Amino acid sequence: MLGAAFCAVQLSAQPKLTADNIDEVLEAMTLEEKAALCVGSGWDSMLGITSSSDVLVSGAAGTTRAIERFGIPMTVNADGPAGVRINPTREGDSRTYYATGFPVGTAIASSWDTELVEHMTSAMGNEVLEYGVDVLLSPAMNIHRNPLCGRNFEYFSEDPVLAGKISAAYVRGVQSNGVGTSVKHFAVNNQETNRAENDSRVDTRALREIYLKGFEITVKEAHPWTIMSSYNKLDGEYTQQSYNLLTKILRDEWGFDGIVMTDWGNKEGTVKAVAAGNDLMMPGSTVEVQRIVDAVKSGELSEADLDRNVRNMLKFIVKTPRFNGYKYSDAPDLKAHAAAARAAATESMVLLKNDDNVLPLKGTETVAMFGISSVDFVAGGTGSGNVNKAYVVNMVQGLENAGFTLVEDIKDFNQKYVDFQKINTRLNSTNGPSILLGDAKMPEAPLSRGVINAQVDKSDLAIVVIGRNSGESADRRVDDDFNLTATERQLITGVTAAYHLAGKKVVVVLNIGGAIETASWKNMPDAILCAWQPGQEGGDAVADVLTGKVNPSGKLPMTFPMDYMDHPSSLNFPTGYEQQAATMFNTFGFVTTAPEVKNVDYTDYDESIWVGYRWFTTQDKEVSYPFGYGLSYTTFEYSKPSVKLDRDGNLTATVTVTNTGSVAGKEVVEVYVAAPAGGLEKPARELKAFDKTDLLEPGASQTLSFTLTPYELASFNIDANEWQTAAGSYTLYFAKNANDTATSAKVNVRKASSFEVTDAYAGIK
Ligand code: BGC
Repeated sequence: MLGAAFCAVQLSAQPKLTADNIDEVLEAMTLEEKAALCVGSGWDSMLGITSSSDVLVSGAAGTTRAIERFGIPMTVNADGPAGVRINPTREGDSRTYYATGFPVGTAIASSWDTELVEHMTSAMGNEVLEYGVDVLLSPAMNIHRNPLCGRNFEYFSEDPVLAGKISAAYVRGVQSNGVGTSVKHFAVNNQETNRAENDSRVDTRALREIYLKGFEITVKEAHPWTIMSSYNKLDGEYTQQSYNLLTKILRDEWGFDGIVMTDWGNKEGTVKAVAAGNDLMMPGSTVEVQRIVDAVKSGELSEADLDRNVRNMLKFIVKTPRFNGYKYSDAPDLKAHAAAARAAATESMVLLKNDDNVLPLKGTETVAMFGISSVDFVAGGTGSGNVNKAYVVNMVQGLENAGFTLVEDIKDFNQKYVDFQKINTRLNSTNGPSILLGDAKMPEAPLSRGVINAQVDKSDLAIVVIGRNSGESADRRVDDDFNLTATERQLITGVTAAYHLAGKKVVVVLNIGGAIETASWKNMPDAILCAWQPGQEGGDAVADVLTGKVNPSGKLPMTFPMDYMDHPSSLNFPTGYEQQAATMFNTFGFVTTAPEVKNVDYTDYDESIWVGYRWFTTQDKEVSYPFGYGLSYTTFEYSKPSVKLDRDGNLTATVTVTNTGSVAGKEVVEVYVAAPAGGLEKPARELKAFDKTDLLEPGASQTLSFTLTPYELASFNIDANEWQTAAGSYTLYFAKNANDTATSAKVNVRKASSFEVTDAYAGIK
């Protein structure tokens, strides 16, 4: 029988694998061994079955197979984007194995700070190494095509350049520890509804410019060890079985030299996946091993294709800590990593509103803290993006730690309500909250006007916390999720009315993983701080920003629209009926027999490249907060914008940023490019580069410099099947957000350029 126990098969003495004898080992392997190496060892380790001797790290997502006669060990993969997801406790073991819960993807992208991200993920990568894991199944970097995607919190942005640069930094940080990453989910996995079967139908230009660009940047700039192919189909074919995607684009065009592993689901068509260049099937099953063996024997699969994948696997394995015998400690420095998580969280928060400079607070005020999320604080989302962390500092604790006094009444009420709801949920649920999925967000507690009014005299100001949670397998809803619930609306209305009547201020803190509706209520509070889902140190990090210990410098990585329907993709994103249908199909396995349901079985990306701010800026459509928006406790002025063309056609742009306010702060400068007319139809402007200043003291200046190659300016021409950069006058905007066109410089690109690609996905309109 083939399987995890395969390693026990005894054949004659063989060369032990080293980095230098890969071909020799490959030559010596049997067909069955080769097939086994390309298929993971099963679901067991994912389920945390500790009694099996094959489980090396309890609660990791999966392992590859060992072949002892060549000295090939199993290697371990664990999730996920916000930290290492493993089981925190083990049977018969008094030690704990908690990992640090870092801020989620959306949050770290809001820092627009690649150095910060790299620093944070180098701490994360140390936990990967010290907990005996070889590959972190992360970063997740699908585009925020629509605000309702249930996994947007794990992903970075609606813009591929921001997503790509943050992702590259993330990979560099983790891999600096000598462990791998798995950049996921490749590709066009932008909804959770029927995620395993949905066919993303997208035109070639949008595919190249929006959905693949971030992956391209990551591969070229950071050389990830592995890529995870997604569950969904692209152009009618599972991505994990697409030669176009996995070989022509990923390897032939971009030069990827690691392994591709599937997302966690065994599909039929294993043979097609092998031929396409999908090196590893995860989590793997003996059925898949057998399929590969049979296909080679019958001639359906060429052994050369299998050998190519096995060679990739061997090259990968020799890099892993497990192969190299690293003695992991199971004791990473969680204290130091908590500090890195807190620093990243504070640098990522986005100040959306600050009328009359109500913030920063002194830290000595008495605060009435409204909203159950002040207690039931959301450190991160659910699903495989969840981290089993030792604790979460909620906002009540964070503010108390910082020296604030909290009004007891409302604090106790929220705590009791949350405790009660948790018990209630457990009693009413057959399975109890799962480690994998985490707890669902509980609804806000209704408060009477009387209760609200009773807090006013006892406090100097009010803070209202609004929380959201989502995760794998389900998309968010428009009502009561993107939009506020009626109870939340009443809470904000009631609190602001009562406090403003007494001449006192109200601050709203958003503890969310992606965009929500803000246009209808943002005029009510005096200040709004978007804290995101900031990881386990979240409460302290919020307090750092509210008190001005850290001056906020985050900017939105996605647009906050006036209305959900303003996004063109809202016309073809699953909501309502379709979503229910998808859940039903998933649960009962009707997918293949059910009639085709739009946005469940397939989704037409009719909006093409008009995603996020590309649409809003080009249409001049009002938004609630533009992409790239964020305030500071100080002010910045931009001066001396300039752009020059060098002999190779590269643009070098500079701008000087001066802190014109009264406290030190950092500023993100976003460089948007408007292309000349006459070439392809383009968005009004597109983000091409960005940078963040150092901490500038009041009055201090810094000149930031950006280089752009002709390739980075190019758009994809479907008819010619190539990237093209038109000649003509380009305007570079040095901007505070996507709507800011105040500071610009022009340059004349004299020569047009074009860049060839393979015929993968050629001509899809
Ligand atoms: C998720 C992946 C994850 C894998 C392993 C899948 O369901 O889509 O993101 O890495 O499970 O846990």
